[in-house]
Amino acid sequence: MTTGPISALAPAKVNLCLHVTGRRPDGYHLLETLVVFADEAAADRLSADHAGRDRFVVEGPAAGELDDADDNLVLRARDWLQTRVDAHSPAAITLEKHLPVASGLGGGSADAGATLRLLARLWGAPDAITTRAREAICAELGADIAMCIESRALIARGIGEDLTLVDGLPPLPAVLVNPGVPLATPAVFGALRNRTNAAMPSLPEAGFAGAGALARWLATNTRNDLEEPARMLAPTIDAVIDALAETRPALARMSGSGATCFALYGDMDAARAAAEELSAVHDDWWVRPALLNPQAEVPLASEGAF
Ligand code: C5P
Repeated sequence: MTTGPISALAPAKVNLCLHVTGRRPDGYHLLETLVVFADEAAADRLSADHAGRDRFVVEGPAAGELDDADDNLVLRARDWLQTRVDAHSPAAITLEKHLPVASGLGGGSADAGATLRLLARLWGAPDAITTRAREAICAELGADIAMCIESRALIARGIGEDLTLVDGLPPLPAVLVNPGVPLATPAVFGALRNRTNAAMPSLPEAGFAGAGALARWLATNTRNDLEEPARMLAPTIDAVIDALAETRPALARMSGSGATCFALYGDMDAARAAAEELSAVHDDWWVRPALLNPQAEVPLASEGAF
């Protein structure tokens, strides 16, 4: 048991690459994906405290985009954990929503992952969300949630339950762009023509000299297999990739099942300048400069303070 309130960042997830390598009998696709998380520039914020009864409040600039707070993944995550922790008690949870909803930034999964971390701490039950629980979390709550519990650089395999933490990746100055077109994940997987693509090559043992070296390695050796079907369903993604390419990044690519795309730059000044350029022309797009994989630069901030 911890005395509250406690708080956590729920950072945006970016799939630097995503290879679809097969399909399970139940229809889910087998993936191999290198995932990093953003810093506080692209994150929701969660807080939790002991309370007389369960409560859930959504606030923040993107709160209005959630039309049914009762159907939020945060509540599904809380309810799931309650069934697994005998010593659970009522909790007041506040979600400060900044990330655009249904954008492919994993915001809902990030919120659920942060909820599980916070409540496991509040209820003194850290074991309830350890490695052994990952399969159940992915199957019962959502395929991206186990990786969001970690919120640091990793390779995810299976449908997202088989995680290998990756050390030594450089921090990546980036711009994230969401054009605001709705794109349903099942539709993107459904439009995939080739479901058995080559696996992701192993990361070089020597690591990467910096952000540029990692971006070049990604461009040469990896893909996002969901980019083609997503572009077919939402041609706006072409416009986003073209606009990002014009800012001369080291790499511009779609993340996850879209529609959010990212571009990588040599430093944060270049990322900020690119974001300004893009915002000036496309004022209807959500554009954010952010540092991906910030843990490589600063020690992971202890939860409780963001
Ligand atoms: O589990 P989650 O809610 O993230 O997935 C949404 C949908 O995306 C699934 O119902 C499935 O149609 C598709 N999906 C898939 N393979 C994955 C992840 C998601 O086919 N690995």
